Amino acid sequence: MAHSVSGHLKLQIDEYDELIGKLVPAYPAMRPVQLDLLALSLPKDGAGARVLDLGGGTGALAAAIAKRFPGATVEIWDTDPEMLATARERCAVFGERIRYIERTFTDSLLPCDAVAACIALHHVKDVSVKAGIYKNIFAALKPGGIFVNADTAVCATPALRDHAFKLWAASMRPHGIDEQQAYAHFASWAHEDYYPPLINELRMLVDAGFAEPECFWREAAAVVFGAVK
Ligand SMILES: C[S@@+](CC[C@H](N)C(=O)[O-])C[C@H]1O[C@@H](n2cnc3c(N)ncnc32)[C@H](O)[C@@H]1O
Repeated sequence: MAHSVSGHLKLQIDEYDELIGKLVPAYPAMRPVQLDLLALSLPKDGAGARVLDLGGGTGALAAAIAKRFPGATVEIWDTDPEMLATARERCAVFGERIRYIERTFTDSLLPCDAVAACIALHHVKDVSVKAGIYKNIFAALKPGGIFVNADTAVCATPALRDHAFKLWAASMRPHGIDEQQAYAHFASWAHEDYYPPLINELRMLVDAGFAEPECFWREAAAVVFGAVK
């Protein structure tokens, strides 16, 4: 069965935007990092550029990209029609510059100038499938195009793994989620999520063809990484 955000996070879709900032407190900090990285690769103001937002959900990242790069068009690919419906409402002001594609991000991608994703690709639990997604991204990007992924990565080394989850749980506390509740969330999300160690993510990008993948930003389990083709 396809992933459904309301089922996975146990929420109503209209609660998503507020709740995601409590569950992933690093969420807002990752956005400007992604936008600045896209600016390195896209033409000035994004003129004529085509950007894919994989698992774009309610459209927060797509809206931020459309605002920062007024000449760009953004395609949100997502399998959850409820999330896409919310994205349509949020992004209506951008008209035809944002497109809403109900499609899995495991499909091969159309040629593009940049690919972005925000806390979406951790839904791919099978690393061979994820490796295939990275190969598709490499194939779709024009030379000089960037892939920039904001997500969660956790070391497999037990002490470091425990430390990452502890920091993540602690970051939820100011948002009213105590440690016990945080660990209950981690256990529940583990059914559909996998946060590979960062080194494995970077290796998969090398295997996909990227010469020099990089971690651009990191805070506890949250990470922004990617590569330029
Ligand atoms: C946690 S939400 C993140 C949404 C948005 N990127 C954000 O920053 O708020 C994860 C999104 O990935 C989507 N998703 C999960 N599996 C997918 C797949 N195989 N193909 C496309 N989208 C998928 C979900 O429907 C959901 O909208």
